Amino acid sequence: MITEVSCSHLDVFIEKLESRALVAGVVGLGYVGLPLAQLFTSQGFRVIGLDIDESKISKLVNAESYIGHIPAASILEMRRDARFVATNDFSCVADADTISICVPTPLDKTKQPDLRAVRETTESLVPYLRAGQLVILESTTYPGTTTEVVLPILQRTGLKIGEELFVGYSPEREDPANPQFTARTIPKVVGANDPASRRALEAFYGKVFDKIVPVSSCEAAEMAKILENIYRCVNIALVNELKLLCQRMGLNIWEIVDAAKTKPFGFQAFYPGPGLGGHCIPIDPFYLAWKAREFDFSTRFIELAGEINTKMPYEVVARATELLNARGIAATSAHILVLGLAYKKNVDDCRESPSIKILKLLAERGFAVTYFDPHVRGYISHRYGKLPGVEIDALSDEAILCADATLILTDHDAFDYERIVRLSSTVIDTRNATRNVTENRNKISFA
Ligand SMILES: NC(=O)c1ccc[n+]([C@@H]2O[C@H](COP(=O)([O-])OP(=O)(O)OC[C@H]3O[C@@H](n4cnc5c(N)ncnc54)[C@H](O)[C@@H]3O)[C@@H](O)[C@H]2O)c1
Repeated sequence: MITEVSCSHLDVFIEKLESRALVAGVVGLGYVGLPLAQLFTSQGFRVIGLDIDESKISKLVNAESYIGHIPAASILEMRRDARFVATNDFSCVADADTISICVPTPLDKTKQPDLRAVRETTESLVPYLRAGQLVILESTTYPGTTTEVVLPILQRTGLKIGEELFVGYSPEREDPANPQFTARTIPKVVGANDPASRRALEAFYGKVFDKIVPVSSCEAAEMAKILENIYRCVNIALVNELKLLCQRMGLNIWEIVDAAKTKPFGFQAFYPGPGLGGHCIPIDPFYLAWKAREFDFSTRFIELAGEINTKMPYEVVARATELLNARGIAATSAHILVLGLAYKKNVDDCRESPSIKILKLLAERGFAVTYFDPHVRGYISHRYGKLPGVEIDALSDEAILCADATLILTDHDAFDYERIVRLSSTVIDTRNATRNVTENRNKISFA
């Protein structure tokens, strides 16, 4: 659905787009921005990538990658024929026709939205914006952010929104390390609040993505993204709670979910784990909970799911303590080997990972902890600093044999679970990672 609108700046924008002369700008070259920049270059556009992190810029300039699932060869390919430049010089914004903002939207200590990066980025754009550009906010946030936070800053340019400057919102959908989808094949929701902005956004992303999903406004697009993440957060909380009940009842929750998912309609499988992780699911629902308060509305599902998911790392530590106690080993003298720091399998992303919280809780309770993740080295938590315990460089036989228990927190494919179970005295599995292990199953407990 493309609305007919007449606007000379829009005509020029469309002409540039059609002739592939359009230059795409991406601000924030992290897990979302870098793949987006990669997609733009692969679709034949020149791309200017901006970030305030100089170490990222210098890596990109040297054709190195800092994201596990993006190989250096892809950066080299992006940079071929100077199609991609990475810089921290915001004056380059003037050369871009589109600016996709992909900066972090975390929570502060009291779980309030922290929109500093969105505000600061938008402010950095203002001196360099000119007529005929399209600004797209991609960061996940509460409904109203584009209109109430971004737009007032953009208006400082003096450019008329919807005539000279186009503005829209399009949430990023990413499932790192999922080979079934690429950035291009994941349908892209797009929303804008005036006809010309809508036309510019739909035309641009319509060229880049296989399928766009236009909605009526920025707010609708913002809310759609939040709904997707709340849906996951609430359903994961549900299975996490049922896991605790199943433990008490002597049932295996994974067996039960796998049985339930054979229903060919009306059921989608979610799996329990040691807690929520990643930059999205533990955070984004609270953006809406915060905004809802402005409307005297309490989002009880979100709060309850948050409560259940937040307590999961504590439950894992309590269960590990209980299992070791049953073997006559007290926490104060026990040595636990933790496997997996990343928040999900086969990625190197440790942001909000429950493993970090669990390491901290284990150390506080007196456990001697060693830890290993084949995808992560020397991780420093932004919240806790250097991690407690001792990181090991390789999963040697010795490292497994000398621990009283092996605690599996991330089910990376790189682990040899048969060997881990064989060498461990006890395995505490929080992910059903050992499902295919056939021998020594009596050593496995679930948490
Ligand atoms: N990671 C995911 O899988 C995912 C998926 C969907 C949506 N999102 C959302 O996308 C947004 C970005 O997430 P991410 O995972 O890419 O974060 P990230 O931390 O990996 O990357 C953000 C980048 O922005 C840069 N940055 C911060 N402030 C800046 C500023 N003022 N100007 C320029 N650059 C700045 C940082 O240096 C960093 O490189 C967030 O809102 C997140 O919720 C993330």
